[in-house]
Amino acid sequence: MQTNLLIGGRWADGSENERITVLDPATGEPITDVAAGTPGDASRAVDVAAAAQPGWAATAPRVRSEVLRAGWQTMVDHTDELAELIVREHGKPLADAKGEVAYAAEFFRWNAEETVRIHGSMGLAPSGDKRIIVHHPPMGVVVMVTPWNFPAAMITRKLAPALGAGNAVVIKPPRETPLTALRIGELLEEVGLPPGLVNIVATTDSGGWFDAAVDNTHTRMVSFTGSTEVGRVLLRRCADRVLKTVMELGGNAPFIVFDDADLDAAVEGAMVAKMRHSAETCTAANRFYAEAGIAESFTTALADAMGDIKVGNGFGEGVTCGPMINARAVDDIDELVRGAVAAGASIVVGGGPIDGPGFFYQPTVLGDVDHRSPIAHAEIFGPVAPVIPFTDTDAMIAQANDTEMGLTGYVYTRDLARGLRVSERIQAGMIGLNRGAVSDPAAPFGGMKQSGLGREGASEGIYEFCETQYIATSW
Ligand code: SIN
Repeated sequence: MQTNLLIGGRWADGSENERITVLDPATGEPITDVAAGTPGDASRAVDVAAAAQPGWAATAPRVRSEVLRAGWQTMVDHTDELAELIVREHGKPLADAKGEVAYAAEFFRWNAEETVRIHGSMGLAPSGDKRIIVHHPPMGVVVMVTPWNFPAAMITRKLAPALGAGNAVVIKPPRETPLTALRIGELLEEVGLPPGLVNIVATTDSGGWFDAAVDNTHTRMVSFTGSTEVGRVLLRRCADRVLKTVMELGGNAPFIVFDDADLDAAVEGAMVAKMRHSAETCTAANRFYAEAGIAESFTTALADAMGDIKVGNGFGEGVTCGPMINARAVDDIDELVRGAVAAGASIVVGGGPIDGPGFFYQPTVLGDVDHRSPIAHAEIFGPVAPVIPFTDTDAMIAQANDTEMGLTGYVYTRDLARGLRVSERIQAGMIGLNRGAVSDPAAPFGGMKQSGLGREGASEGIYEFCETQYIATSW
């Protein structure tokens, strides 16, 4: 497979012939290397995208839609190969990787359907003096910066609607997991996507790359998924050029279990919300609020389920939790656990790193966690479940909302009316009510507060990659 930069339909080394070593997080050993681009390469890719974009925008929506549909089909046809790449460079269990490929491919199929339904409107002005015609042309060139936790899906969730709307893109894939991105670029070429519309430029100089890409005056929009901390920096840079942005940033999801919840369903949902994709998701349940009457049984059952997890190489038989992405991630998780214990939490199961090779952490449940301890205010991004018992619903909701993050929340109760009332009071863009997973290409993914700006997926997703133009006319 290709391991170079993709610019204008050509695969080439970066201008300085630098390479990025890609590691297998299950062993810490190198897998291969890929070309690293310079800031100049990023800017050149923007130029190339700008040259290719008008022709694509002028292509019939049905034709663009069929290219996206072919993108879905080829990803499905290459599920095993893509899933193996994901396991190798990210480490997640093979079943999760296959699930990711299906999820990632679905963004192409969903947006193939949206591409032929980008609607405008026409109306008579209240004064009666003119018609108001509204339509939605593409943005132009979109710069995309994607994370390592979903090497395929976080690319296609942006790429499919951007292409469907008639844009050209320049992608900076994560340096930890560039291989899946490059393979998706190659597959799109094979199904006939015209050259220059998708450009992929990995780099070791993220700051310089981004500055060069956004300073190029052809760039009209930035779509980013990653931490709130980095998102703030990118937003400041985008402000200099008043670029449109879509930002999918960090989370700190509360998972709320009321006394009347179905305990088995709540534990099953908790395991999904915490552990899917090795607990490295921004939608992951980060704090578990369990009502006093169920807190002990919930904690015990959750600890049993967490204790039963087989941790290991994602290719291993029965493994449901792979390695963390790198050694620093393991250290960061451990620091949060140590902080919670210092603040009075008990370790019910797990509680520390697993000796190498590779970057593993024990699935951990912490009991009697104090809401004020750092772990309740930081995105854990690892297999640790802090349980905070509660007695007063209003006080619990105040704690659940005591965060600048507002991506996801989860509520378990048999009383649907209460579930809906509580869901509406949680300040988060997505709520799982008696469900441990919310993500769906047909649903609007995104956060409130500092968890982000804009939405991906659903019908909203494709309009994010469009301008709105209004034409006043009379006849
Ligand atoms: C993310 O963690 O960034 C995305 C999670 C998802 O799509 O489910």
